[in-house]
Amino acid sequence: MALDSRFLAELKMRNGIAETIGSAVQLKRNGTRHVGLCPFHGEKTPSFTVFEDTASFYCFGCGAGGDVITFTMRYNNLDYIEAVRYLAERSGMALPEEEGRNAAYQRKKRERLYEMHKLAARFFYKNLMSPQGKAGLDYLLGRGISKESIVRYGLGYAPDSFNALKDHLREQGYTPDEMMAASLITRSERSSSTYDKFRNRVMFPIFDLRGNVVAFSGRLLGDGKPKYLNSNETEIYTKGQHVFGLNLAKNEPDGLLILCEGNLDVVSLSQAGFTGAVAPLGTAFTKEQARILAKYAKNIVVAFDNDSAGLKATDKAIRFLEEQGIPVRVLQMSGAKDPDEFIKTYGRERFELLIRSSKTPIEFQLEKLKAGMDFNDTALKVDYLRKAVETVGGIESAVERDVYIVNLAKELGIGVDAVRLEVERFRKRKASTVRRQIVKQSEQELKGTYDRVNPERSGNLRAARNEELLIAILAKHPGLWKDAEEKLPPEEFITEFNRRIYSFILEEYRSQPELAAPVFAKAFDEKEMARISFFINTATLHGDAKGQLAECIENIKSEKAKRIDPKALSPEELMQRLKNKEN
Ligand code: GTP
Ligand code: MN
Repeated sequence: MALDSRFLAELKMRNGIAETIGSAVQLKRNGTRHVGLCPFHGEKTPSFTVFEDTASFYCFGCGAGGDVITFTMRYNNLDYIEAVRYLAERSGMALPEEEGRNAAYQRKKRERLYEMHKLAARFFYKNLMSPQGKAGLDYLLGRGISKESIVRYGLGYAPDSFNALKDHLREQGYTPDEMMAASLITRSERSSSTYDKFRNRVMFPIFDLRGNVVAFSGRLLGDGKPKYLNSNETEIYTKGQHVFGLNLAKNEPDGLLILCEGNLDVVSLSQAGFTGAVAPLGTAFTKEQARILAKYAKNIVVAFDNDSAGLKATDKAIRFLEEQGIPVRVLQMSGAKDPDEFIKTYGRERFELLIRSSKTPIEFQLEKLKAGMDFNDTALKVDYLRKAVETVGGIESAVERDVYIVNLAKELGIGVDAVRLEVERFRKRKASTVRRQIVKQSEQELKGTYDRVNPERSGNLRAARNEELLIAILAKHPGLWKDAEEKLPPEEFITEFNRRIYSFILEEYRSQPELAAPVFAKAFDEKEMARISFFINTATLHGDAKGQLAECIENIKSEKAKRIDPKALSPEELMQRLKNKEN
């Protein structure tokens, strides 16, 4: 797709870096910089920085960086074109290429996918309600699911047949290729014949937020493997980007969502009146799902299964949800393996109590530390205190921290001041470790030990630094590009990577003189973008940009002059130089 710089510049302007990243990451403004917790690595002290003046970001913790397109690629797991499309759609811009026939064709194709899913969902539902579907209905009723719930979630039954759905869709005018693309039929490896993917399963349609069926999740009627069979990804369904039950739960008046593990938990909870129940579809809850939930939830209670896998998944869910800035609580059950079983055994009131007594993430962590604790054993008590101090020390809000400090002191029967002192000491230690790590990493970058992006940098440090400074100046002062080009053609650059950037900048400005800033994402990959973002944003520019540019150019030229190509020397000269080196 030919995307010109003007289009991309407009795209970047409409998708402001601070707003775009800010809708995914909680940022604190500090002048033209915004700082937050990096979404690309786990951290408790913010080192992720968004720079408004250069429309870029850089994480001093993990070295991720780039512009708004790079961010979108990485955060939403998209390739370059997909990211551009995503940002274009988000800001109401039409992609040049999509305005033609192609777009109409693509739209038609998607419409047929939606339509096929709708027909399939109806087919499964009708089956469930017919004599053919008795096994499925008996299974659901046997698990205490009411007819109302079946209707509410549009549950169905895929008959025990290899071609029931296939024949049905064919009668409606769909081809096997279309059914394959919808992940509703499968092709056999040996005979290349096709047959229904879902057979003899209770079917859970997966809805998008506009109410279209986009995929299915089918459960076996009994034990066996795989327990659930899910649709593969299609043009209308991306795994990890849908949340089961959210199409219904999103309108919860109080904004309380209950995140549980299983589809059946969702149905069972909502049947008992907890209509905010949702589940992550498949076992792993994703960042993207957290982001989607954040749009609809005011509070989230995590009610995963009561086993070690559930505990682990809870940690991750807490992290992802807190990154989105939603208040999270953790519901803990005993006497049942999951919410579905709990409600059946103890009733809805008891579950209501569990919600009310659900724990904050810190309480949840502390409780995990306390498991099997004996406070009469001094060594265990000290060990617990040490770990608890680390947990409480991770809380950013001083007020909140203090609440836990007081509780902890009370619980252990020690002085509040002593606990507070330990917590603050831990925080200081932690902060200096983080700082040391950042310094160490930058040093390694400079020494070039791990420098895959610009391997020539370490051998030509002075030249490379001046090249980088020059690039930073041009990125911030586009008006100077002509000055630079006249005095220093790209051939004069010493390191190849920086030369490529310089040539790119000149080309960009030459073809689009009014461009506010070069759109690097068009020509550089993620690692390269991160590097560019790093040196553009850490360059020390002084007031006199023109003077500083002239200085850089002089320095680069003098470095170039020092580097004499051995092949250009006469044998005598070469001998002379080698001798000089020996002395
Ligand atoms: P019950 O065991 O009948 O209570 O079903 P459940 O819906 O509660 O499922 P469970 O707690 O075992 O698993 C939680 C979720 O993980 C399910 O709803 C599915 O989304 C997913 N899951 C479970 N088993 C499988 C499987 O075999 N394959 C896939 N792809 N996903 C599964
Ligand atoms: Mn379950």
